[in-house]
Amino acid sequence: MNIPFREDSKFCSFFPRSKSFLAIFVAILLSTCSLTWAQDSTAAAGAAAAAPAGGGDAAKGETLFKNNCAQCHAASDERVVGPGLKGATTRNNIAWLTKWVHNSQAVIASGDPYAVKIYNEYSKAQMTSFPNLSEDDIKGIFAYIDNAASAPAPAAAAAGGAPAAGAAQSSGPSDLFMIVLVALVVVMLLVLGVLVVIVTILSKAVAGDEGAAKGDFMTRFGASLKRIAGDPAIRSATLWIFVLLVIKATLDGAYSVGVQQGYAPKQPITFSHKLHAGEYKIDCNYCHTGVNRGKSAHIPSANICMNCHGVIKKESPEIQKIYTSIENNTPIEWVRVHNLPDLAYFNHSQHVNVAGLECENCHGDIAKMEVVQQRSSLTMGWCIDCHRKTDVNTKDNKYYDKLVQLHASDSKEALKVADIGGLECSKCHY
Ligand code: HEC
Ligand code: HEC
Ligand code: HEC
Ligand code: HEC
Ligand code: HEC
Ligand code: HEC
Repeated sequence: MNIPFREDSKFCSFFPRSKSFLAIFVAILLSTCSLTWAQDSTAAAGAAAAAPAGGGDAAKGETLFKNNCAQCHAASDERVVGPGLKGATTRNNIAWLTKWVHNSQAVIASGDPYAVKIYNEYSKAQMTSFPNLSEDDIKGIFAYIDNAASAPAPAAAAAGGAPAAGAAQSSGPSDLFMIVLVALVVVMLLVLGVLVVIVTILSKAVAGDEGAAKGDFMTRFGASLKRIAGDPAIRSATLWIFVLLVIKATLDGAYSVGVQQGYAPKQPITFSHKLHAGEYKIDCNYCHTGVNRGKSAHIPSANICMNCHGVIKKESPEIQKIYTSIENNTPIEWVRVHNLPDLAYFNHSQHVNVAGLECENCHGDIAKMEVVQQRSSLTMGWCIDCHRKTDVNTKDNKYYDKLVQLHASDSKEALKVADIGGLECSKCHY
């Protein structure tokens, strides 16, 4: 792109050249971009560091809460998907809470009156089970919640940040963006001021009237301002800065657009991954036949269910729904959980087959989920962050041999996805 700068404009010789000024500006923009993209990973660490010193458990609890519970619960008494957890430790003791967090369904099934009551109150929404959290972890989480409730200001902050898991993260980038903006405006004003002074002195020198009266300073000042505003170089620089700011704002927006983390819709049949993939250890590929071969993982048709349910639990009303679907020749209307917008291209076989990634890397531990839940943010920042950090799986892949050699000749680091073009817009956007 050819930027129409006038090289011979009056002040170009003593003012940092517009082109290099623009280059510096672009560099600042890009560096803040990388900072915002790196946010995902630093957010957790930052949260832990910000917790009050001394409350070691509560600090760990805060991170655990934000990573596991915040998409459904606030630490205040505000209702999100589940109830606000303020005062949970006064409603039930820690032993009960531990059992509940490990497996709420089991507590409900045992007929515990409080559990049954709250389950019905929340229209039988199932809370995710967290069997992997230790007793200490859970104590930490509730210590954090109690702390947040007793300190009013932090509690309000937690309540504001909790409902959307993405909200806490996106406040970082926009703060940074504001700082950069303000800094830029200050710099621009300074440059403008210096220019005015210089132009004034110069025009005085040209006119040769060193002893000009102070009285007409304002008219001179006005005239030089006009001259500066009329200068095409200044005009185009302003225009470009404006355009770049708009692009930057759009990119920042794209980073957090449509965050659906924690989405776990109710399905037409109460199909459980915990039962099928967890307890019965049925391989993911058995049902999601596309993962190694194509773009889409595929949702299994009713026929695949019939391989087993032709004989297993035929009398169950849930299984009868599968029969009805086949008899009426109408597919089961599963509600889609993960959904990228059409403008983004994602391919499963590239990630599962070629890169050798596990489903858990992106979907969380599905084999422990009663109801499938979107665990990752699926934002552009999430894709890019992983492409920056992850090594390409080059083992036994002849296709990469040459590239690895080339890369090793000028870098000591392993070949990352970013190095093979994983950050190029066109790889993910048509
Ligand atoms: C997918 C959403 C979801 C997640 C994630 C989740 N919960 Fe829940 N939770 C619920 C729902 C919904 C209820 C209401 C009871 C029900 O419907 O089962 C609930 C109820 C509770 C209760 C009982 C509420 C009360 O006031 O006594 C506690 C305690 C609790 N959750 C703790 C946690 C903790 C701790 C975590 C994180 C380790 C967590 N939950 C993660 C959805 C969730
Ligand atoms: C017995 C068949 C079966 C097995 C085995 C199975 N799934 Fe599923 N999976 C389904 C069905 C049916 C759905 C759609 C209903 C739902 O979302 O629960 C689904 C949905 C999903 C979804 C959400 C799809 C969406 O709408 O975005 C993911 C992710 C997923 N499965 C991952 C896995 C992983 C990972 C494994 C292995 C640990 C696995 N599945 C094993 C049948 C299966
Ligand atoms: C490889 C065998 C296998 C496949 C394939 C399979 N299931 Fe199952 N399913 C089981 C087993 C085993 C049980 C547990 C039966 C029991 O509790 O006695 C079960 C239980 C269930 C239940 C609970 C029934 C109840 O009332 O307790 C539902 C619902 C269910 N499956 C739905 C599905 C759906 C939908 C599919 C197709 C996407 C499917 N299953 C595919 C083996 C399978
Ligand atoms: C690198 C991250 C990543 C890995 C690894 C991954 N997935 Fe996905 N998965 C996604 C994304 C992103 C989507 C949403 C795709 C879309 O909307 O186009 C998705 C969607 C799905 C869906 C919904 C149907 C579809 O294909 O759109 C299923 C089912 C699924 N994944 C299963 C699996 C299974 C099973 C594995 C492991 C064998 C797996 N995924 C591994 C990122 C991943
Ligand atoms: C868990 C890490 C991880 C996540 C998350 C991830 N990717 Fe990747 N991606 C990889 C790896 C590793 C490769 C390299 C595969 C190979 O060797 O070709 C890759 C390759 C790609 C490629 C091919 C790049 C090329 O130069 O050939 C595209 C396109 C892509 N990913 C899109 C996406 C999109 C879109 C998302 C987000 C929805 C995403 N990825 C999320 C790890 C990830
Ligand atoms: C690794 C894959 C990947 C790369 C590389 C990538 N994007 Fe994206 N981009 C995505 C995904 C995925 C989304 C959808 C995010 C969402 O829905 O939250 C997205 C969304 C967007 C959007 C938002 C569209 C909307 O709906 O508002 C814009 C604009 C965008 N990208 C521009 C770019 C530009 C410009 C580049 C090159 C600098 C780029 N992207 C590189 C994956 C990628």
